[in-house]
Amino acid sequence: MAQFKELVFSGVQPTGNLHLGNYLGAIKRFVSMQDTHDCIYCVVDMHAITVWQDPKELARQIREVTAAFLAAGIDPKKHIVFNQSQVSGHAELAWVFNCVARMGWASRMTQFKEKAGKDRENASVGLFAYPMLMAADILLYRATHVPVGEDQKQHLELTRDVAQKFNNDFSASIAEHGFGEAFFPITEPLIHGPATRVMSLRDGAKKMSKSDPSDYSRINLTDDADTIAQKIRKAKTDPEPLPSEVEGLKARPEADNLVAIYAALMDVTPEAVLAEHGGSQFSGFKTALVDVAVSKLAPVAGEMRRLMADPAHIDAVLVDGADRARGIATETMNAVKDIVGFVRAR
Ligand code: TYM
Repeated sequence: MAQFKELVFSGVQPTGNLHLGNYLGAIKRFVSMQDTHDCIYCVVDMHAITVWQDPKELARQIREVTAAFLAAGIDPKKHIVFNQSQVSGHAELAWVFNCVARMGWASRMTQFKEKAGKDRENASVGLFAYPMLMAADILLYRATHVPVGEDQKQHLELTRDVAQKFNNDFSASIAEHGFGEAFFPITEPLIHGPATRVMSLRDGAKKMSKSDPSDYSRINLTDDADTIAQKIRKAKTDPEPLPSEVEGLKARPEADNLVAIYAALMDVTPEAVLAEHGGSQFSGFKTALVDVAVSKLAPVAGEMRRLMADPAHIDAVLVDGADRARGIATETMNAVKDIVGFVRAR
């Protein structure tokens, strides 16, 4: 992939409360990639409407995810922060990809099956086409690296398949237009660290998610210190003390999850957590976890509240980010139109 400049892209949906899984699996990692890469972070509002959203609430949530990005430490001047619907290239490229991807590929997506549930006939066409829009999000910027949680792995595999098939289907035209052997990079998913799959606090076999009916299953980024403490104290555990080695976490999903959360919050490995806390009872470990969680999350929540009090500032950040994103997107779309054979103004 030598010909592609390294670029990071990732997105978060503005639906429901942001939780600790979004923070540790994605947003916190977005922050650390800023030192080594050019980054584009997108509030994917067009993805959100694949399921009906209350318009006022959608606008609020777009601003809230943006506030979370900024509060966590993303720098919107050095990098790009914007909401997807302000850059029309996402929808345009998604259409081209709808025609490149195969029905079979989209039909295999487990997230569609989960979200559509039993009543598949009644799911929106957009929900089915969602992975092609996601491929477009990434490839519109010809991004090479995408930090995400584990639940997005299959969508990133489809993104790679779409890029590969586009490069093959149009190889002659790509070369003719001076783009060499491949127009799109084969994007690398970055699914790293101890918290790529944060589990529910009520059930170690279920992913922590926005849609779980129990608020005690997750820590929301906007929860105050008391709520965080209460949720951690009530988190499901088993009766054994913590093991001293990670091997000992294997058949203990709840213990494994709390250790992973602690490790990710502290930026250390689960091994290091167990070196310190192995042999402790959960009551003691939970007290330590509450301290860490509150000290790391409360400042983010406080800054989010401060930013949300000035929506005009957030909107200005998004408009500025969208202007810069559009610059890159327009170049890609012009090239894609030439490669595909569409006629356009010169
Ligand atoms: P979304 O909005 O559901 O989640 C945002 C990010 O949070 C991660 N995540 C988790 N990580 C660890 N543990 C969990 N329990 C957990 N729950 C969520 C997700 O993996 C994701 O990284 N389709 C995407 C949004 C998207 C996107 C993109 C991402 C649209 N276009 C292009 C990357 C590149 C989604 O629904 O994420």
